[in-house]
Amino acid sequence: MIKHASSISDKIKALVKKRNAIILAHNYQRGEVQDIADYVGDSLGLSQNAAKSNAEVIVFCGVHFMAETASILCPDKIVLMPDLKAGCPMANMITAKSLRSLKDKHPEATTVCYVNTSAEVKAESDICCTSSNAVKVVESVKESEVIFVPDKYLAHYVSRKTTKKIISWNGFCPTHVKILPEHIEKQKILHPNAEVMVHPECTPPVIDLANKVLSTGGMCKYAKESTAREFIVGTESGILHRLRKENPNKKFYPITDLAICPNMKLNTLEKTLWSLQDMKHEIKVPQNIRLKAINAVDKMLEIS
Ligand code: 13P
Ligand code: SF4
Repeated sequence: MIKHASSISDKIKALVKKRNAIILAHNYQRGEVQDIADYVGDSLGLSQNAAKSNAEVIVFCGVHFMAETASILCPDKIVLMPDLKAGCPMANMITAKSLRSLKDKHPEATTVCYVNTSAEVKAESDICCTSSNAVKVVESVKESEVIFVPDKYLAHYVSRKTTKKIISWNGFCPTHVKILPEHIEKQKILHPNAEVMVHPECTPPVIDLANKVLSTGGMCKYAKESTAREFIVGTESGILHRLRKENPNKKFYPITDLAICPNMKLNTLEKTLWSLQDMKHEIKVPQNIRLKAINAVDKMLEIS
């Protein structure tokens, strides 16, 4: 079994070199996929790394909107997804058409879109944000009214940190809504000295029980720097691999075993290898959409 996995990794490494490729993996990817990646991070870090990479090919082990964002930022590179079915249900909860209707109802407002959106939605937005900079992005706009799509829970979290009027959309992450306050209460009884970190896609009652509300990259940074030895982790379970690998002397407990994003788990070592062998599946944002969407993404990167 180990021999099989390492031989696949070796083949991937050889092809990465041959194709002048880079593998970018989100913090929720399977452990073995994270281990062969050139960079593992959150949505912001992945966009920044895609933008600065000199590689000709980017293999994106994440979900569809992440590969699209890489294509928006790197039109001259070939962006590949190992599994085309790896979408983000939250990103699919809003369309460009429905955003246009919302904008028509609030003509004075600026539109901030979470990076978990399609390229078409980004093209309709003024500025993009990720979970690590959402408050900063909203605070950076001059208008006092902000349309924030599609995550109603991230919008709610941001609304608590700003005086701006936030107009939200009824989107949510099906994985993060599985995390319930009672899960935290149970874990706190089991691990009374642990700090609770949760993602801002969690519901407000969950956020109220947390010590820290952080992006996945923020959690990795905080776990390293904190003097705490134990952490209860309120986000998708894939992040536990990285947290444990980078902090072998600290303990990390999932809030619940239910927090699994099935889409993030679609990427495997085998599919990553096939992706490099067959140069599949290419994600290319059409130029007319890209030219509009890049404004929102670039503005975010400028202030990050
Ligand atoms: P991060 O940017 O915090 O990694 O979040 C991405 C995501 O999809 C969370 O569900
Ligand atoms: Fe989308 Fe939620 Fe999966 Fe993140 S965890 S990719 S928001 S469904």
